[in-house]
Amino acid sequence: MDKFKNKSSFIKTLNGKYSSVKPIWLMRQAGRYLPEYREIRKKAGSFLNLCMNPKLSAEVTLQPLDRFDLDAAIIFSDILTIPMACDRDLRFVENEGPRLKPIKEEKEVFDLQLTNVEYLEPVYESLNLVKSELKEKKALIGFAGAPFTIAAYMIEGKGSKDFSNCIYFFNKYEKTFLELLNKLEVFISDHLIKQIEAGAEAIQIFESHAEIALKENKFKRFCIEPNKKIIKNIKKKYPNIPIIGFPRNAGNYYLEYVNNVNIDCLSIDQNVDILELINNLKSKKMRNICLQGNLNPEVLLKGGIQMERDIHYILESFSSLKHIFNLGHGVIKETPIENIHKLIKVIRDWEK
Ligand code: CP3
Repeated sequence: MDKFKNKSSFIKTLNGKYSSVKPIWLMRQAGRYLPEYREIRKKAGSFLNLCMNPKLSAEVTLQPLDRFDLDAAIIFSDILTIPMACDRDLRFVENEGPRLKPIKEEKEVFDLQLTNVEYLEPVYESLNLVKSELKEKKALIGFAGAPFTIAAYMIEGKGSKDFSNCIYFFNKYEKTFLELLNKLEVFISDHLIKQIEAGAEAIQIFESHAEIALKENKFKRFCIEPNKKIIKNIKKKYPNIPIIGFPRNAGNYYLEYVNNVNIDCLSIDQNVDILELINNLKSKKMRNICLQGNLNPEVLLKGGIQMERDIHYILESFSSLKHIFNLGHGVIKETPIENIHKLIKVIRDWEK
């Protein structure tokens, strides 16, 4: 019996099995570009209320699958629920993004504890609900931010172009910063394991700010090592759950990431030259992993003939490889819904 027979094309592809259906999902597929999302968000009162309400978050998770022929749902939550559960006063300011109580002193790192576990419980409840409602052959993805990306927000207290406070902190107090990464590794591993136990069939780890570590020559120490440890913790317990790594904007350091971190799939941003990446993976005899990506979200926003061309280019380039279609980053909130219908149609027509 083929144990993958009834699985989604997404899970099959992650496991290296042939699927006649191209797996498609989009980062931020549930979000503000959808009127039905905006309606539920209004009902919830705020983004965080929505994340903390399992029923509403499950509903929002399923919305894009009701509208589009997607192959996976990603649980609706946020990477910053971990600092929230550590008492770092998370808020979201309209049109500005997240705000947290910034870590300024070393003592705050030593005192850091994940005390408010109840903030994470809605994520597991929501996974349970989604799992019970998800149609056959659709997969459910759990996720978390990687330690460096979460630490960057915790020190900076907000999103930033250059994360200068974070860079200042880790250069001045490197040992303490490593202690922060260590603590986050434990919290994140535990959070991901609980997501698997609540029904997640695959995991994505978002290292969205890898490029800050890269610029400071700390990619190995701050990104690779913590990612590696988290995956080891998960695989020890759940060796068959596929893990997608997303070291965004890591440029050529993707190769070092793949070589060192035991991911099943590498998600790539739109700045990666696909052919160069494939050549490098082949010529360096690297693991035959699955790749995910990488349509530019700006191209999806604009649509038209350029979008069709770019989609075909991605499909052709990856045609001999295990590939999951996705964007290079999240859906932009002004994206017209018809562009997403078109994107899926172009991919489905190409398969025929
Ligand atoms: O992909 C999905 O559909 C699942 C849900 C999801 C969200 N955030 C919902 C969200 C996921 C996987 C995330 C991950 C996340 N959150 C990351 C990593 C990926 C990335 O984008 O680089 C980061 C850095 C965050 C932190 C975060 N959350 C920021 C910086 C912001 C504000 C930016 C913005 O778009 O407003 C958020 C808010 C957020 N997270 C929204 C959504 C749908 C918008 C909330 C709203 O106003 O309704």
